[in-house]
Amino acid sequence: MDAAVLARAAELRAQIARHDRLYYELDAPEIPDAEYDRLFRELQALEAEYPTLRTADSPTQRVGGKPLDSFAPVRHVVPMLSIRTETDTEASGALNFDARVRRELGLTEEAPPVEYAAELKFDGLAINLRYENGVLVLAATRGDGETGEDVTQNVRTIRDVPLALKPLPTTGQPSLFDAPGLPEVLEVRGEVYMRRDDFDAFNARAIEAGEKTLVNPRNGAAGSIRQLDPAIAAKRPLSFYAYGLGEVRGWTLPDTHAGVLDALAAFGLPVSEHRAVCSGGEALAAFHARIAEARPTLPFDIDGVVYKVNSLALQQRMGFVTREPRWAVAHKYPAQEALTTVQDIEVQVGRTGKLTPVARLAPVFVGGVTVTNATLHNESEIRRKDVHVGDTVIVRRAGDVIPEVVSVLSDRRPADARAFSMPSHCPVCGSDVVREEGEVDHRCTGGLYCSAQRKQALLHFAQRRAMDIEGLGDKLVEQLVDGGLIRSLPDLYRLGVLKLAELDRMAVKSAENLVTALEQSKRTTLGRFLFGLGIRHVGEATAKDLARHLGSMDRIMDASVEELAQVPDVGPVVAASIHTFFAQPHNREVVEQLRACGIVWEEGEAQVASGPLVGKTVVLTGTLPTLSRDQAKDLLEAAGAKVAGSVSKKTDFVVAGTDAGSKLTKAQELGINILDESGLMSMLEKREP
Ligand code: IVH
Repeated sequence: MDAAVLARAAELRAQIARHDRLYYELDAPEIPDAEYDRLFRELQALEAEYPTLRTADSPTQRVGGKPLDSFAPVRHVVPMLSIRTETDTEASGALNFDARVRRELGLTEEAPPVEYAAELKFDGLAINLRYENGVLVLAATRGDGETGEDVTQNVRTIRDVPLALKPLPTTGQPSLFDAPGLPEVLEVRGEVYMRRDDFDAFNARAIEAGEKTLVNPRNGAAGSIRQLDPAIAAKRPLSFYAYGLGEVRGWTLPDTHAGVLDALAAFGLPVSEHRAVCSGGEALAAFHARIAEARPTLPFDIDGVVYKVNSLALQQRMGFVTREPRWAVAHKYPAQEALTTVQDIEVQVGRTGKLTPVARLAPVFVGGVTVTNATLHNESEIRRKDVHVGDTVIVRRAGDVIPEVVSVLSDRRPADARAFSMPSHCPVCGSDVVREEGEVDHRCTGGLYCSAQRKQALLHFAQRRAMDIEGLGDKLVEQLVDGGLIRSLPDLYRLGVLKLAELDRMAVKSAENLVTALEQSKRTTLGRFLFGLGIRHVGEATAKDLARHLGSMDRIMDASVEELAQVPDVGPVVAASIHTFFAQPHNREVVEQLRACGIVWEEGEAQVASGPLVGKTVVLTGTLPTLSRDQAKDLLEAAGAKVAGSVSKKTDFVVAGTDAGSKLTKAQELGINILDESGLMSMLEKREP
């Protein structure tokens, strides 16, 4: 072995030890998990090649994390194990695990499939809850697996964690569970985590109060539990899910892990509904795929799924290797966070002139795709995160959400790093940039003179829920505006087939289709037309309200702020915005020209006087099993209901699908009726008397 290998192993050990300390003891990680895993795997690989490198103190030989002196140590009666991780993508992680289990159990090919319990891998902090005769007496962290820390005070502040268990039913009937009542000792293992909406709300409040923000939900959870002051911990919004057992006395265990989870739920512990019993490896792979799809819509972070042999007897037969059970595996998803560098910060101009700084990144593979841009939201966000051009940053991508810069690794800042400042003139049209009192955003004052705003305004006007002009996408709009063919909305209706067919990637046929689509869009409703104009603060629902209550375009254009504010749900800010919009002669001119092009509607929003839901206000949340959001909205509106964006006392009912978030919670708090999709369908089928 040469000196370079020795030196590299020593360097890796030191780096990993430092990151362990930052992560486990200080709750201040500097690098994303994926980067840590890379260091760890490199050391493991070196040790595999040169076994003499594998010293007893190598970080590969222990789980990591010493208890802080300040919390009382707790020795775990049953050690808290860690879990082996498959990083194979797609199905193979599941199939490999199944093959390994079958091999270790000595099953032949003809033997029936092994049954597994499949769950989410929650991304928080592992906790052991000890209940004696049904009462929570102790809560401890995992620590090094043998000894953890007593964090009972802090865990007691988590509303999800019951302070006392519900006794199980004690009917003399053969029941799901053998032992009635409450066990003498029941240790429940699970994860303390922070929901994303709770994390966002906490950080928003912290920014307002000028306090330190949390880096990500996982650190939010870990840091809060390891807060020495329980009063501070109590202010942190934490949640808990149970996934297993520690020491148990005075209770006969169910036969399966799925049975254990059902029993834990019956005891009143929170157990995730995203769990399944799967027969064989293919079924595990299907679970992995299903959860991958649901992952972006879950209200909390997960980093994978966990498969466990379902039969407790088989689990026992398989046993453990060092600190990992042979009967369980975590199957990870691609990391949603990665390290990269900021090559530049550019400014984009949106429909309303809002300037959004965007980080141009060295390409990095994260969340399953290569990311080259991340939004920095606004100038204050850049100040808060202290992002410079040249910085090494953590970027995060979750589902379809725009990638974000999470934080900066300030100790890696190069000497020539450059701070960012908002331009004083629009980078697209050169107009003045302003930041209004009390607003975080900077805006270009160019209005439709600014080609960036013009493009966005056209796309907004053409969208399905506004004028519904099929085939007018962003590439085409780009060409139309840059080529000087369109200066204002009415120019759209003056496009002819010949002009269009000259454009790139436009054949005569597609030009004809667009002209037909434009013709068809001319028959519309006042609500759609108003929404399409893109007046600030006038969304679809407000546009419909205006149409319904004021009845005609002329009345709306001439209404005073007071008259506008009489319309239900139109407040002073919205009313002022509408009034200002129509006070501009050029905006009135646009409306006149559009009418002159032949756009027509029946004045007044078509009143649905006979629908079963006339006068009802409904809120949609979560994913419905068969209907898309737009479809549900259309059905509700056709039945006369108004679909609102947020829950209030005025809401008549909420239609909730899976992974509904804060809207559902709020509805529950306010005691508002909650329906699922089938409830909605039967409501819609009701006939008026
Ligand atoms: S079972 C004997 N199930 O992942 C198996 N762990 O290395 C013990 N985790 O720190 C763990 N979700 O906190 C199990 N559904 C789940 C889990 C889970 C998250 C965490 C756990 C532990 C790590 C395993």
